[in-house]
Amino acid sequence: MHPFFEALRDSKVMNLFFKTAGASMESRARHLLMNPEKILSGTDIKPGETVLEVGCGTGFFTMPAAHLIGEHGQLIAMDALPAYVERVLSKVGDAGLNNVTVLERDALDTGLDSSRVDAVLLFGVIPFPALPLGRLLPEMHRILKPEGVLAVWLFPPLVHLWVPKAIVQSGLFAFVMKQNGVYKYRRLA
Ligand SMILES: C[S@@+](CC[C@H](N)C(=O)[O-])C[C@H]1O[C@@H](n2cnc3c(N)ncnc32)[C@H](O)[C@@H]1O
Repeated sequence: MHPFFEALRDSKVMNLFFKTAGASMESRARHLLMNPEKILSGTDIKPGETVLEVGCGTGFFTMPAAHLIGEHGQLIAMDALPAYVERVLSKVGDAGLNNVTVLERDALDTGLDSSRVDAVLLFGVIPFPALPLGRLLPEMHRILKPEGVLAVWLFPPLVHLWVPKAIVQSGLFAFVMKQNGVYKYRRLA
């Protein structure tokens, strides 16, 4: 488990916080306010691709992303929090999806092979204390294929002021376009 979550594991307040946050992440109200299918349509994910979703939470984007890649694609949904991983595993099982692999893993050290994925989704996960860009971006660069796509959807709005700039300044990704609120970057050699 990531040290950030390890340190909070025995805190009742934090566990209550994560439980409440998890419920709100998959709430009806969120579905009314945000359309995950529409947001994902800004990513260019294609059927048959291998996609990593970092910080899948309780799976708001996981299920629609699995439909986008189709039965010949593979979605790797990753989160560091066991309770969220269990929740997504149960949704994937209920839906009978066999193109999704759910991993409890620290995204700073994914354990995935280099040049393994066509696209990475960073959806509603940055900035986050346990996901410093200085470590996250090099790991995403390592696992993406040479022409791979980094797709970033930001929340809350204030973070648009600096996160997109920080991604370009890393020198690892070039900005391509913004579509349906999703910033798309191409992996640089
Ligand atoms: C704000 S939630 C967003 C969840 C989901 N993407 C959504 O939009 O509903 C951020 C997620 O990132 C996960 N996370 C944070 N740091 C992580 C890390 N180092 N590795 C993997 N997941 C992490 C958290 O556990 C949490 O589920």
